[in-house]
Amino acid sequence: MQDCGELAYFWPMNSIQVLDRTFVPFISAEKIAERIRQIGQEINERYKDKNPLFIGILNGSFIFAADLYREMEMPCEITFMRVSSYTGTSSSGKVKELLGLGNSVKDRHLIVIEDIVDTGLTLQFILNELQLQNPASIATVSLLFKPKALQVDIEPDFCGFETEPRFLLGYGLDYDGYGRNLKGIFVEKEKS
Ligand code: IMP
Repeated sequence: MQDCGELAYFWPMNSIQVLDRTFVPFISAEKIAERIRQIGQEINERYKDKNPLFIGILNGSFIFAADLYREMEMPCEITFMRVSSYTGTSSSGKVKELLGLGNSVKDRHLIVIEDIVDTGLTLQFILNELQLQNPASIATVSLLFKPKALQVDIEPDFCGFETEPRFLLGYGLDYDGYGRNLKGIFVEKEKS
């Protein structure tokens, strides 16, 4: 994995209340944009002759995916998928499904775009499902990565920022559906 970017704790400003939780500024919109430009250049270099297919994982990655995709300077495509959990008839009672895989990804170079890797279970599930389609290669890019929260042996190939395992909000990340529209990333305030 490449080195993750340095975290910027930006200037103090008013905290934001979302439902019952309070969040404070953590990574500025400018710092996010700068880091995405850097990751974009690395992907441009590595994939310049590979006609990659980006796969954004909904909902959380839609803003990051849009910004990263616009950094691309080579022929490439983008599509979106979603992981659904529903109560099924398996013994665990919970079955996951990867939705949205339309055209074949066989022999394509895939780049999965995630908003955040926390336990890593979602990414592991997605990679296992995509592998069944025999792509030429699969790489993963995640804006955020919480290495201390990992429960499986997986890490993104390209990563925006490594963070402590604290709850984050904004730039696509939500709390109970809210906060995705925030331009920067916020962290839940520690209880004093
Ligand atoms: P994982 O399977 O535990 O790695 O988690 C993946 C998903 O959990 C992400 O794609 C997010 O949707 C959600 N998630 C994990 N951590 C956070 C967070 O700090 N804020 C908001 N959503 C999160």
